[in-house]
Amino acid sequence: MSFCIFVFLLLAFFNGVLADGPLCPGPFNPPNNISTQVVYPVSNNPVTFPTDYNCVYQINVPQGWSSYVVVTAIPSSNTTNAPILQVIDFNQKVENFQYAGYEEFYFIASGGRIKLSTQSTNVTFQILVKWYSNIPPFNPSFVNVSASDSQPSIVGASYANCHVTAETRVSAITIPSVANFQGTDRIKNLRSVLIFDGSNENSTCLGSAYQLLNSNRQWVSTGKTLSIFQLQPHTDVSGSQLLIQDFEITKEIGEYQGIGGSWSWPVVIDASKQASAFSTYSHDGWSSDCLLNITGTGTLDVYNGGITQSKSNLIASYSESSNGVNLPQTIRGVVRTYVLTGGVATVQINSFNGCGLLTNNVEGFITSREYKTNLTLRYSKDSQWYLSNAPFNYTLNLKTVDLSQNKSLQMTISNNETNVLNVVYNSSNPPMLNTVLSGIGNDMKVIYLAHYDSKKDGFYIDFTATKVKESTAKSYRFIIIFAILWTGFF
Ligand SMILES: *[C@@H]1O[C@H](CO)[C@@H](O)[C@H](O)[C@H]1NC(C)=O
Ligand SMILES: *[C@@H]1O[C@H](CO)[C@@H](O)[C@H](O)[C@H]1NC(C)=O
Ligand SMILES: *[C@@H]1O[C@H](CO)[C@@H](O)[C@H](O)[C@H]1NC(C)=O
Ligand SMILES: *[C@@H]1O[C@H](CO)[C@@H](O)[C@H](O)[C@H]1NC(C)=O
Ligand SMILES: *[C@@H]1O[C@H](CO)[C@@H](O)[C@H](O)[C@H]1NC(C)=O
Ligand SMILES: *[C@@H]1O[C@H](CO)[C@@H](O)[C@H](O)[C@H]1NC(C)=O
Ligand SMILES: *[C@@H]1O[C@H](CO)[C@@H](O)[C@H](O)[C@H]1NC(C)=O
Ligand SMILES: *[C@@H]1O[C@H](CO)[C@@H](O)[C@H](O)[C@H]1NC(C)=O
Ligand SMILES: *[C@@H]1O[C@H](CO)[C@@H](O)[C@H](O)[C@H]1NC(C)=O
Ligand SMILES: *[C@@H]1O[C@H](CO)[C@@H](O)[C@H](O)[C@H]1NC(C)=O
Ligand SMILES: *[C@@H]1O[C@H](CO)[C@@H](O)[C@H](O)[C@H]1NC(C)=O
Repeated sequence: MSFCIFVFLLLAFFNGVLADGPLCPGPFNPPNNISTQVVYPVSNNPVTFPTDYNCVYQINVPQGWSSYVVVTAIPSSNTTNAPILQVIDFNQKVENFQYAGYEEFYFIASGGRIKLSTQSTNVTFQILVKWYSNIPPFNPSFVNVSASDSQPSIVGASYANCHVTAETRVSAITIPSVANFQGTDRIKNLRSVLIFDGSNENSTCLGSAYQLLNSNRQWVSTGKTLSIFQLQPHTDVSGSQLLIQDFEITKEIGEYQGIGGSWSWPVVIDASKQASAFSTYSHDGWSSDCLLNITGTGTLDVYNGGITQSKSNLIASYSESSNGVNLPQTIRGVVRTYVLTGGVATVQINSFNGCGLLTNNVEGFITSREYKTNLTLRYSKDSQWYLSNAPFNYTLNLKTVDLSQNKSLQMTISNNETNVLNVVYNSSNPPMLNTVLSGIGNDMKVIYLAHYDSKKDGFYIDFTATKVKESTAKSYRFIIIFAILWTGFF
């Protein structure tokens, strides 16, 4: 008899919509053979559920285990404004959906719930669940952070398996791999990276790296330790990072955003109540931020690394009055932290080299990528270019440079490919520091050469570029030619 009912139910599913929908099932438990994936309602295509259908599906997960849940809920019409699907995790945090194509979730002990409320539409629905009997993989890595660090530690989200110990408490933010991440799969996959408030997977789970990202805040451990694991199966979270610091360093910061990806975007920071910050990250300093524009109020401090009390790695500071002439400005380093105090501002940043094309007068600085970081970055050539379609008077004032171990620094100003200035410094031909060199041209390069693996302290140059009238440029060129001819007589 019960067999007949079962068959009847299956047939009903295959024939489209059930008048009242299937009975709401009890909790989902791991099968005896956990390699088996559990599929609901039937083990092939999703099934259409009728209007006004409500059911909560509970996923049970034993202590120390995890489950991977894929939900599909596609409405026949997108007319309802209320969510048709709610996913409630083990911390009772809710994600709402009006449409779920193939949404992946990870639940740990104390489970999670999926709530279907079809409202006024038919919904094609399916749940897939797979259980895993261990949370952390073998060989975790250990990271120590200290209140005296000027450079934050970075933990890649991919295959994260890490225990962090701080001197005081651990602070973490997520830096995503893409900028405009709403709805991006690679960012939603950060649901698989869980952050535990303690030394192992049995500690309280604070939530996922995805929730941390969306919180726009740092999460802080209650004790000295924090653990980060990516759950199975390992979905693609490549390029996203967790930025880890000692809370002693970041305790003044309220809102703290992680900014990643590679196009131009405005970041709004609100420090009206409490200092507010955002950090960007570039592996080995390969890319830089171009700080284009700051509007609003407050003071924006920029650090090569994390915040330091001593400000030893402070690279620039901007307030309302100084923004105009000082921007755009290239900001280098591995982690860059922008801290706003006492105001609300919109900061425009371009992550590709938007600073290299000059249109207006600028007054700023040029540094190597590791300047003030005390990091050993691997590269043998670090080139920076400035170009303009009209002549500019460039001035360069070298303040400090590390020329040890065969390093060299070349500065070239050229006009229509004719060098106006070309100097190369090394340890046997050192520069005069604090001396202004200038030249008029439409192209300026700074090239720093060093051994790939060497420790580099880098350089700092005060830099200006001032637009000149075409006629000045021509006569100046003439003087140079004349000077060259004239020196030729001796
Ligand atoms: C468990 O399930 C997997 C996949 O469905 C299958 O390959 C395996 O043979 C099963 N193991 C046992 C002991 O039944
Ligand atoms: C976590 O709890 C489970 C179940 O109580 C236990 O088997 C496991 O050893 C614990 N893990 C750690 C690291 O203590
Ligand atoms: C409902 O919205 C989703 C996502 O925006 C879209 O892919 C789908 O085609 C829409 N469905 C209908 C029936 O309009
Ligand atoms: C839901 O499906 C039933 C059966 O196919 C159909 O009669 C009804 O019009 C559908 N309702 C909506 C809102 O699409
Ligand atoms: C971290 O600190 C602990 C002691 O607090 C030490 O035993 C361990 O070696 C350190 N690990 C690293 C990677 O520095
Ligand atoms: C900076 O932003 C303000 C407001 O959006 C705008 O008016 C101004 O032109 C921008 N300046 C630059 C140099 O982009
Ligand atoms: C710079 O790093 C070296 C190790 O690479 C360390 O010995 C030194 O103390 C650091 N200097 C500063 C100022 O942090
Ligand atoms: C370029 O600027 C520098 C510094 O202000 C100045 O000394 C120099 O005369 C200028 N060059 C020309 C050709 O105007
Ligand atoms: C500098 O370069 C010379 C010639 O290439 C080489 O012999 C020497 O070992 C290098 N010195 C250092 C410190 O790398
Ligand atoms: C410095 O540069 C000069 C000219 O290129 C070269 O002859 C000399 O060997 C270099 N010295 C070092 C220490 O690299
Ligand atoms: C640079 O070259 C272009 C075309 O080759 C010419 O039109 C322009 O006048 C030159 N500029 C200067 C400053 O000599």
